[in-house]
Amino acid sequence: MYFNTEDIIPMKEITKICCIGAGYVGGPTMSVIAKKCPHIQVTVVDINADRIAQWNEADLDKLPIYEPGLKEIVAATRNKNLFFSTEVDKAIDEADVIFISVNTPTKTYGKGKGQAADLKFIELCARNIAKVATTDKIVVEKSTLPVRTAGAIKNILDNTGNGVNFEILSNPEFLAEGTAIQDLLNADRVLIGGDETPSGQKAKDLLSQIYENWLPKERILQTNVWSSELSKLVANAFLAQRVSSINSISALCEKTDANVEEVARAIGYDSRIGSKFLSSSVGFGGSCFQKDILNLVYISHSLGLQEVADYWEQVIIMNDYQKRRFADNIISTLYNTVSGKKIVFFGWAFKKDTNDTRESAAIYVADALLEERAELSVFDPQVKEQIVFRDLDYLNTRTPEENRNLLTVVNDPMEQVENAHAIAILTEWDEFKTYDWEKIYDKMLKPAFIFDGRRLLDKAKMEEIGFNYYRIGQV
Ligand code: UDX
Ligand code: ADP
Repeated sequence: MYFNTEDIIPMKEITKICCIGAGYVGGPTMSVIAKKCPHIQVTVVDINADRIAQWNEADLDKLPIYEPGLKEIVAATRNKNLFFSTEVDKAIDEADVIFISVNTPTKTYGKGKGQAADLKFIELCARNIAKVATTDKIVVEKSTLPVRTAGAIKNILDNTGNGVNFEILSNPEFLAEGTAIQDLLNADRVLIGGDETPSGQKAKDLLSQIYENWLPKERILQTNVWSSELSKLVANAFLAQRVSSINSISALCEKTDANVEEVARAIGYDSRIGSKFLSSSVGFGGSCFQKDILNLVYISHSLGLQEVADYWEQVIIMNDYQKRRFADNIISTLYNTVSGKKIVFFGWAFKKDTNDTRESAAIYVADALLEERAELSVFDPQVKEQIVFRDLDYLNTRTPEENRNLLTVVNDPMEQVENAHAIAILTEWDEFKTYDWEKIYDKMLKPAFIFDGRRLLDKAKMEEIGFNYYRIGQV
């Protein structure tokens, strides 16, 4: 037993909650809770004052996160029962339940560098809660965390607190960006992990009650803490594995007459396999897949399970190969030199309907092409110039100045394609499909190339216009 307290949390129902971290998880999740639970006061806090100011923007198009359906919910709840604030301590002290939703990036230093999750933000939160809390609290971990983090949080809270009781729950978030609001409103399941003591059970039931305001009871699964923490990593690892599996087949299809989409459809009709997560792409990105798999690899390795670690690591190796393969194909098709050639990127976000670019395939494809001295021009409907440069500068492959010399970010896709040698589609934004591709063709240098990393466009139509059209997974 690693929870020693048998104290029963005294609260009868939850009236005030707070969430530490106003990011892609905390923001949408708390907005939906506020909308569905008008009787609960929800305060989202963050140490990043700019981010909080953006959440409080009168102009709802300036919220820090782009997510379909989000601004309508914020409009309906903000300053009624949903508040965004930088007053972290006050919100912690007032709340019955504290969600921790801060970032857990992969470590960039020391032991576990490049694999283990960096828990320093979580630890800072736990220490802060211990310092500030004067009444009993339920502390909920919402960030993706490696297994056994709840134990660490519990330890800090028990040893440094003001003598109040804490019950720690794991409640991982399964929303996908771009469909976050729908995923939250109609969640397949909610997972609540907690201690198997009377006190832990009471905390789990109290948190379940929040979700029961809009979800059927059967979809709320209660488990022990470790199962809950591990399930989040495993769910993401399984999803990422499907993408890497179909991407491995895309390479095979490009060497044969098979078409990866037909293969995916054929296998997806098997109800045991199912049709989702079989879209071959330039590679998966996002804040979770790579990070969670690396965590799984690190944990397995630390426990001496080398074969398990190697098995999961291969999913990442396959994903890196897919990004590299896409860039290499551009280079070899453009007569083995892209130096000084204008290549236009449509899309920078890691998928459509989000402004998030974390681990986006576009970053790595751009990096490979910039190393060959290509001139890149980037357009994404929701990603700002400063973010594109931040992503590239972070890689440290070139100086910030070199990146700015070789790459420009533009707001008008039509102006961008003027005299371009090639267009590469990196994100599957719907609007790209409706562009005037004949006009685009006229403006480009000939022969005009399209490299479709998302299989977004109609191959026959593009070839009819005159493009040399290449897509993932089909010759
Ligand atoms: C994922 C999980 O889906 C979600 O449950 C978890 O809470 C967080 O991680 P997210 O990263 O937001 O969500 O997006 P997701 O839709 O899963 O896509 C991840 C990446 O895989 C994207 O880059 C996407 O383009 C790519 N992908 C997905 C494919 O390449 N092919 C597919 O068939 C599906
Ligand atoms: P996610 O996708 O998991 O939501 P984000 O990086 O979008 O991750 O959001 C995490 C947020 O947590 C950031 O806005 C960051 O400023 C905030 N944060 C990190 N540490 C703390 C802390 N100790 N107190 C308050 N907020 C924090």
